[in-house]
Amino acid sequence: MKLIHLTDLHVSERSGAEYHHLRRLVAHIIEHHTDAVVVITGDLVDSGRADEFEVAAEILDALAADCRLMLVCPGNHDVEWMGTFGGLDRRPFGAFRRALTCAREGYPYCMTVDGVQITLIDTTAEARGLGDLARGRVGYRQRQELARYLETGQPHTRVVAGHHHLYDDDLGLELVDAAEMRAVCAHRCNLYLMGHDHHWGLWREVDGVGWIADGGKSTRPHRGRLRYRLFDITDDAISCNTQTIEV
Ligand SMILES: [Fe+2]
Repeated sequence: MKLIHLTDLHVSERSGAEYHHLRRLVAHIIEHHTDAVVVITGDLVDSGRADEFEVAAEILDALAADCRLMLVCPGNHDVEWMGTFGGLDRRPFGAFRRALTCAREGYPYCMTVDGVQITLIDTTAEARGLGDLARGRVGYRQRQELARYLETGQPHTRVVAGHHHLYDDDLGLELVDAAEMRAVCAHRCNLYLMGHDHHWGLWREVDGVGWIADGGKSTRPHRGRLRYRLFDITDDAISCNTQTIEV
């Protein structure tokens, strides 16, 4: 199975660089990899507003329609802060997710494609009360459910995807239950996908997880080129290729 990882698109307005770079990314994927499952690990938009999701959907609709499957989980920028007593507004993200993906409500969301189990989690689920929206928390309920998914079925490969970084302990950005998440994934997860800190990175065999990928910020060029990772997953191996696009 082919799996493409995108993250931190931060689309806002049609005049923004992110909008144009996302168009380039989507055109490249549709030209070369329509057989891929595309996983987007959050921060699709910049402020969580419905009008921003409309702009993002203009582009991502083609990806959802032409690729094998598109899956999304929310980042902190996808759920707008409504003030101390208002909590988070998840409605625009929820509407986008229902319209463009096959997912039901709620996280963790787990499905198996060609023997590859993919589980998406919501790292903003219990962010309320942390005092800073850029921090994340998966929470006990999701971790328990994730652990159950990681022990059920007989997939040859298990993929977990969530927005916040598993190792970034910056006080304003951290996933506060990262240690618990690493314990849940240890020796059960073959590939972990994440974003949030906009630092492109890839680690092998750390804390009992075969591959850990930080997709950086997919809509920001690096040395004049956009880049994304394409994983080729077979029943006994994972390989990774970086695709680049000149801008
Ligand atoms: Fe983020």
